[in-house]
Amino acid sequence: MEDRLLTGNELKEDSFETSIRPDHMEEYIGQKEVKENLEVFIKASKMRNEALDHVLLYGPPGLGKTTLAYIIANELEVNIKTASGPSIEKSGDLAAILSSLEEGDVLFIDEIHRMPRFIEEILYPAMEDYVLDIIVGADSTSRNIRIELPHFTLVGATTRAGDLSSPLRDRFGIIDKLKYYNEDELTQIVKRTSRVLEIEIEEDAALELARRSRGTPRIANRLLKRVRDFALVMGDGKITLEITITALDRLKVDSLGLDDTDYHLLKSIIEKFNGGPVGIEAIASSIGEEQTTIEDVYEPYLLQIGLLKRTSRGRMVTEKAYQHLGLNYLKKEE
Ligand SMILES: Nc1ncnc2c1ncn2[C@@H]1O[C@H](COP(=O)(O)OP(=O)(O)O)[C@@H](O)[C@H]1O
Ligand SMILES: [Mg+2]
Repeated sequence: MEDRLLTGNELKEDSFETSIRPDHMEEYIGQKEVKENLEVFIKASKMRNEALDHVLLYGPPGLGKTTLAYIIANELEVNIKTASGPSIEKSGDLAAILSSLEEGDVLFIDEIHRMPRFIEEILYPAMEDYVLDIIVGADSTSRNIRIELPHFTLVGATTRAGDLSSPLRDRFGIIDKLKYYNEDELTQIVKRTSRVLEIEIEEDAALELARRSRGTPRIANRLLKRVRDFALVMGDGKITLEITITALDRLKVDSLGLDDTDYHLLKSIIEKFNGGPVGIEAIASSIGEEQTTIEDVYEPYLLQIGLLKRTSRGRMVTEKAYQHLGLNYLKKEE
């Protein structure tokens, strides 16, 4: 599962990402509204010489949350310190990070929904009043001390905004959802990455890659790197449409960006449940997967492109999916 080529999650082979990340807002493609709003808030905070409000970025993996966090710090011209939710285990871990901050800095906490609840509670006064309340000593000798912190901006990223406690969510002044990218935006991203990596690619090849990248820049960049290898071995290094199609077919990425996992899910619902509607629990047990894995990993893209739909009675495979799979569709009640 983790090695699935089309996962939005970061794989080992994506380590080149840091070298191709855009550094500035103007290079960050798409997410127009999010960008425009952030630009205003960043400008205002610089004009007032105050720390930017805390920012929560959420959305599926690979859509540019981490990239945006770094861009925010760059645009603010401040340092960025990073941590991830699960890595902050003790109150001392958080205290150490917070006390290393300088005035105006960005603290980026990735996977913030996985932070332990008691750590969250230490974060509340830090976010609200820029203070850190800690307990020193043990038992009868223990006492509270309050440490003043510099004014900082917390940028939190999560794939599951729903898992965030409401007191934490309420402390973010700016909450932005990143959306899947359209074909045109992904084409621009593929072309931009090609320029940075000095890869020659034809326009129609970039579009084909974009179409098969599940609306996700991380996947687009990963596929671009794979296709580049094919271009080197099969051609003269230049990525043409023909090479792109051959390579992606060989990698089992179909024309809509579906792989075997998607086929397995859709066909299971069609064959075992007559296309649905069927409850998520039944689907989970029929394909032997966790319900949350289906909800977080398998179905978002299928829902997004309209191959699967959610109804009050469960999931249904759509007519578009039957057509894509080359199967006959019989219209039925939802
Ligand atoms: N809007 C964008 N424009 C250009 N490249 C992007 C954009 N969003 C993401 N990327 C690229 O996709 C890769 C994955 O983005 P990342 O910020 O790590 O995603 P996330 O943190 O949401 O999982 C990055 O290396 C970056 O190069
Ligand atoms: Mg990230």
